[in-house]
Amino acid sequence: MGKWFLSSNLLRQFLSIFYLISLATAQLNLRPKQHVNAAGLGYRFGQSSDNAEDSDHFKLLAADGESLLVGARNAVYNLSLATLNVQHKIDWKPPADQIEECIMKGKTKADCQNYIRVLAVKNSGQVLVCGTHAFSPKCREYTYSNADAKLENTRQFEGQGISPYDPRDNSTALYIPDSGEIYAATVSDFVGNDPLIYRRKLNEGERTGLRTQRDDARVLDAPNFVATFVSKEHVYFWYRERASEAVDNNEERQVYARVARVCSNDRGGPRPASERWTSFLKARLNCSLASPTPFYFNELKAVSDPIPSTNGDHIVYALFSTPDSPVQMSAVCTFSMKRIREEFDHGTFKRQRNTDSLWEAFPRSEMPKPRPGTCVPDSVRLPEATISFVLANPLMHKCINSVNGPLLIEGVDRAQLTQIAVLPQIQSVNGQKFDVIYLGTVDGNVLKVVNTGDNVTVVQTTRIFAHPQPVVNLLTKSQQLVVVSSNEIAAIGVQQCEQQTSCSRCVQLQDPHCAWDVNSGRSDFFHIRFSKGCIR
Ligand SMILES: *[C@@H]1O[C@H](CO)[C@@H](O)[C@H](O)[C@H]1NC(C)=O
Ligand SMILES: *[C@@H]1O[C@H](CO)[C@@H](O)[C@H](O)[C@H]1NC(C)=O
Ligand SMILES: *[C@@H]1O[C@H](CO)[C@@H](O)[C@H](O)[C@H]1NC(C)=O
Ligand SMILES: *[C@@H]1O[C@H](CO)[C@@H](O)[C@H](O)[C@H]1NC(C)=O
Repeated sequence: MGKWFLSSNLLRQFLSIFYLISLATAQLNLRPKQHVNAAGLGYRFGQSSDNAEDSDHFKLLAADGESLLVGARNAVYNLSLATLNVQHKIDWKPPADQIEECIMKGKTKADCQNYIRVLAVKNSGQVLVCGTHAFSPKCREYTYSNADAKLENTRQFEGQGISPYDPRDNSTALYIPDSGEIYAATVSDFVGNDPLIYRRKLNEGERTGLRTQRDDARVLDAPNFVATFVSKEHVYFWYRERASEAVDNNEERQVYARVARVCSNDRGGPRPASERWTSFLKARLNCSLASPTPFYFNELKAVSDPIPSTNGDHIVYALFSTPDSPVQMSAVCTFSMKRIREEFDHGTFKRQRNTDSLWEAFPRSEMPKPRPGTCVPDSVRLPEATISFVLANPLMHKCINSVNGPLLIEGVDRAQLTQIAVLPQIQSVNGQKFDVIYLGTVDGNVLKVVNTGDNVTVVQTTRIFAHPQPVVNLLTKSQQLVVVSSNEIAAIGVQQCEQQTSCSRCVQLQDPHCAWDVNSGRSDFFHIRFSKGCIR
């Protein structure tokens, strides 16, 4: 607490709240139309508990057809998506001597377990699993054995640069089955000082890969990664980090939201840059309220998958907050993948001539050719000038503005938002289509928000867990919402239409999932029971 009172950042935040309230009217603190208490309802896995010391650190690793794969303490669970029943379990505890060594290095016994953070299913059917392994990351390959119908451990190798050391670390990983490559965004040392974006093949014998430079704050500085996905010929990384371009009176370094990308066909540079990306570029994400002095939401917390939009573009919904403080606020913004691509493909770069000078746009006339960061058939043949440019100046000068500013803002007196998932283009009973957004909160609720295109409606808030605890992952399927906290997983319906008891209330709810059924006289799930009744 003490530190907060000394912080000029906090004072600034207090002042800006009054300012913010004058800017935002429509989107600020919208009232949910319906409150649902689903604590203990639906399907459940794990234990509802508020004991943070003894956490399972659940992490949703994949949704594979009708199964959910969940990383936990010394285990991976394969759960049925429909019922959350355990279909298979892999147990993997670190050996006693490794646990002892980890405790000797000053970690707690709880942290010196093996928290599974990465899972990949290879084309061959083998399953690759990586975990923190008592602060000494390891990976294993499991092969399905026909003899006893079980997964058997067939290989173990070092997992540095693939799995984090600490279960709390915000890392991401993405496996591409066709190339057999894994992209990981994590840290590769015990103390967590060496963040990296790393790619390597997972074949036996392959040890080398491509990574971002070590010890270079211009490239990555204390990042928290939130998502990774493929779009066209690139792999995108979404994160927040300390911004080297925003040193604030040499005082507190600000955190900015970032999107970065690499080319899937990057093969590294010519020696000595043979293990470095030649295509790593990054840009700031701008989710703010427009005004002469914009109010910024800088801390990226979560993003949705890219969602196809009608004009051939893809849209990403992103969740942001202001810095951690007693007056924290959250906001949802959308970003166009087309706009992001344009900036990386044609925008100017930012540079700082030396550590004391101001950041400026790099003059286009001085840029090397081919353009730094472009995907080329053989990056090993790129000229030295292009390689050294991109290693030193990966940041774009302009930021990526959100499509139309924040869709929704949750103010100081509301629970912070932690996670986001979107069901795109849900057709309502009158034929119109809407994106439905689910937002997890720090106290174990989920908001359901409908994007009408012009504005948003908060259809409902649902209490998911008996003990208030942060939602750490959210997954939407057409009829089911999966909500993950550190110790408990819940699967509930995507809608709670039946709570409305009259046709007019059903209409007022503005939930595209719901319709009034004149035959039964009930508000019901439109997709299950077609209704000719009440049209929105
Ligand atoms: C999870 O279990 C289901 C049902 O047995 C199985 O079909 C699926 O392959 C399993 N997934 C993994 C990754 O083991
Ligand atoms: C990871 O992100 C969460 C949510 O933003 C945050 O509370 C937590 O401190 C982060 N973990 C680390 C190790 O920074
Ligand atoms: C961020 O977006 C706002 C609103 O569009 C704009 O006013 C502001 O200048 C942008 N910030 C930067 C750094 O470009
Ligand atoms: C949101 O938009 C809908 C339709 O576009 C309109 O009927 C409604 O009044 C708007 N709500 C607010 C709060 O502006």
